[in-house]
Amino acid sequence: MKHRLVLIGFGTVGQGLAEILLKRELELEAVSGVRFVVVAVSDLLKGSVYHPDGLDLAELLDLARTGQRLDAYADRSGVVKGWDSLSTIVAAQADTVVEVSWTDVQTGQPAIAHVKAAFASGKHAVLTNKGPIALAYHELQQAADAAGCLLRFEGTVMSGTPAIRLGRQALAGCQISEIKGILNGTTNYILTNMEAGVDYAAALAEAQRLGYAEADPTADVEGFDAMAKVVILANVMMGAHVSLGTVVRQGITGLNRADIAAATEAGERWKLIGHIKRQADGAVSVSVQPMRLPIQHPLAGVSGVTNAITFTTDLLGDVTLVGPGAGRYETGFAVLSDLLEIAHVGKP
Ligand code: HSE
Repeated sequence: MKHRLVLIGFGTVGQGLAEILLKRELELEAVSGVRFVVVAVSDLLKGSVYHPDGLDLAELLDLARTGQRLDAYADRSGVVKGWDSLSTIVAAQADTVVEVSWTDVQTGQPAIAHVKAAFASGKHAVLTNKGPIALAYHELQQAADAAGCLLRFEGTVMSGTPAIRLGRQALAGCQISEIKGILNGTTNYILTNMEAGVDYAAALAEAQRLGYAEADPTADVEGFDAMAKVVILANVMMGAHVSLGTVVRQGITGLNRADIAAATEAGERWKLIGHIKRQADGAVSVSVQPMRLPIQHPLAGVSGVTNAITFTTDLLGDVTLVGPGAGRYETGFAVLSDLLEIAHVGKP
């Protein structure tokens, strides 16, 4: 079965996905029966190219690697160039739009408009940007339902580590009363290194070098990145209607070496914890704050850039998932996992 994709954005994640699809093409078809074909790529800076029968991924990746625009894609019969993102979404003959463009975290645009256009033209949508889901999850889900399309966004929390899929699908028969997570790799890396004696600025610089930190690292260290993730988890897993403004948020910039040493002495460890809890009256509270956890706590042992999440459930007690939270292939894989689900589920 062929599943045709439109890629909106051809930066790190778009290219990571393209590399995985290229490398795993035969293997994926053999195990899943699905052949993913990229029919269009549209990128604000790099230009756009479309062919209804599919594009040559190796050639696209080569253009990106050598800093060339997509307009330099070899002309063949049927190739269309120059469409902007919305024209590509609407006009391309495709099954799913993969939205991995650069998005304004304050407004969620242009990703929100892209996803709505995908549904309006009968296409499923996969996102990895947190902004649109943190800002407009219920609205986008309603638009998907009304159009009979699917919306998936595994990569918005813990990249390809299946936190959302675990909570929504594998734990579907349980009631989740509480979620605690280390949802930001940069801050966890900084805290781990400060405990080992490295100073804050050097640890942050290294997290930036590793490509983990956001373009503006304030988003990491002041807890804004984790805040978007707790809003997504609360709204998606707990049926809440919380917005970014309702999150109690505190970053790690107020912690110094003395605080870290005091925790160590007490057999505890500081972690920046995203916390979602259903209260007795049914309301859902959300916060991001540094917490001192006893060393035996499952989240206390998670070090470096690694992320982790603990679901507290009625039938299983605590279930903890540990894994990467960012990266080219890690987030590319998140998209692939959503695509495999969509290709199998099809329209509901
Ligand atoms: N800046 C984020 C982090 C990347 O450090 O975890 C993933 O959202």
